[in-house]
Amino acid sequence: MTSNPIIIGNLKMHPCGDILREYQALCQKESIGLLVPHPYLMMAQALFQDSPIWVGAQGVSEKDVGAYTAQVSAKILKDIGVATVLIGHSETRMTGVDVKAQLMQALGEGLSVIFCVGEEQLMGQKERRLCLEQQLSILPENCNAVIAYEPVWSIGTGKIPKYSHINEAVDVIQSWYKANNTSNSEPVKILYGGSIDNKNCREVLSQTNIDGFLIGGASLKPALMMEVVKKCR
Ligand code: PGA
Repeated sequence: MTSNPIIIGNLKMHPCGDILREYQALCQKESIGLLVPHPYLMMAQALFQDSPIWVGAQGVSEKDVGAYTAQVSAKILKDIGVATVLIGHSETRMTGVDVKAQLMQALGEGLSVIFCVGEEQLMGQKERRLCLEQQLSILPENCNAVIAYEPVWSIGTGKIPKYSHINEAVDVIQSWYKANNTSNSEPVKILYGGSIDNKNCREVLSQTNIDGFLIGGASLKPALMMEVVKKCR
């Protein structure tokens, strides 16, 4: 089991002013990441200025700059001091966005990327490998990213894949990464996401080769999220 897992909450599209204030009160020592809706980014940065919590965005526009009403570009994130962005979450893929264009915008501005991959439904080992490799293939060579393995059928459903299944996915991602990153011999960091809570987190972490979690639903309850942190570190 990894000794200091990366733990990141994805607050999705939930009103989260009160949730952020609760995190500020509860989380004074443990480093965690919170991916907040765009309008809360600056508030969260100010709230967590003296805290171990870091703040990231949940997505970014495919466009660089200009007349694109309601969109938020990588340049804007950089301008307001946001250093990390989630790219390719299945809930954004569903809207038909150009994930590669978003990724290139984020990397072009020097943002750190958490890149999501994961099959939509339960499938055989070979099909799953091909699906993951195809999703990974949009990452440019020697690209520094954290990969979040999130089987779509596990997100928000309470269903966790078998540990052997998660480990196979980790192997596929590691092998792909090794073959496509000649300048970096370090293994890529891989998070697991999908129905993680305070009850299952320790076992999933201890039985698999992941480096941490990307947590949706449970991250809306700061006390519960802090329990996850306590159980995993
Ligand atoms: P969940 O979401 O923890 O609610 O399953 C995970 C995610 O979408 O990142």
